Amino acid sequence: MKRFLTVDDIGDLKAALAEAQQVKKTPFAWQDLGRNKTIILVFFNSSLRTRLSSQKAAQNLGMNTMVLNINEDSWKLETEMGVVMDGDKSEHLREAIPVIGSYCDIIGVRSFARFESRDFDYQETILNQFIQYSGRPVISLESATRHPCQAFADLITIEEHKTVARPKVVLSWAPHPKALPQAVPNSFAEWMKAADVDFVITCPEGYDLAPDIMQGAHLERDQRKAFEGADFIYAKNWSSFEQYGKILSKDRSWTVDAEHMSWTNNAKFMHCLPVRRNMIVSDEVIDSPNSLVIPEAANRVVSAQVVMKRMLESL
Ligand code: CP
Repeated sequence: MKRFLTVDDIGDLKAALAEAQQVKKTPFAWQDLGRNKTIILVFFNSSLRTRLSSQKAAQNLGMNTMVLNINEDSWKLETEMGVVMDGDKSEHLREAIPVIGSYCDIIGVRSFARFESRDFDYQETILNQFIQYSGRPVISLESATRHPCQAFADLITIEEHKTVARPKVVLSWAPHPKALPQAVPNSFAEWMKAADVDFVITCPEGYDLAPDIMQGAHLERDQRKAFEGADFIYAKNWSSFEQYGKILSKDRSWTVDAEHMSWTNNAKFMHCLPVRRNMIVSDEVIDSPNSLVIPEAANRVVSAQVVMKRMLESL
């Protein structure tokens, strides 16, 4: 595996899930694979789960890990091509990326959407520069438009907790005070469309995801109808794709509370975290026995380890 950016990079999902179970059972069985190998995790943005789960996964595989917080630990980096660097940016990505690549065997990159331009974000300008100039396999640790490590962990969690062969999985928009990227819902939708689940998206007008993401997904505008018979509720906020990066609604009637969950088939509740309590989900729901948010976060180690293992195997 040379890159991990979308669901297409993982190949057969059944095989990936079987490998995930094996990794979860015997996490230290591949310590020799990573010996004398180094992964560098580059963060342009904050993280708790991705940072720690990626480090833990690398350690389980016997790898050395280095973490670089861009603009905090390092020089401020220029990302635009062809500019006169007479501002506060001391180094260009064009040099920084191959230098980082020369110190490691695998690179992980977190680079969120900037919301300055939909084209810039959806072209994955930063991530693609790492792919082009690092000379190393690249793992997306959440890019402008995708969060594949999260979606893989979500799928592992659904597989572990499903009680029917083909569960109904609902991705529900929920309100948030800040404009958030579409990376998590985009990836979740991509992975659910590829998985053996009955997948439904529910969101207010103006919040449809990108056309290629919506294609093949069942859209139900009525949140109550969408929740009926659901086995898993995956709540998430995202800003508008159509009016790019805009907040069009903070309607708290979309907050997932006990009444919402009563419409479901005793559904499990999921969220990628961090979550705003009583905006996205009520205390009662997230603290209930049906909440999977902690095992879901724990599975981030498993998804990252499968991806790193495959990359090490193909070095
Ligand atoms: N879910 C997730 O990616 O969490 P962090 O932003 O804390 O890494």
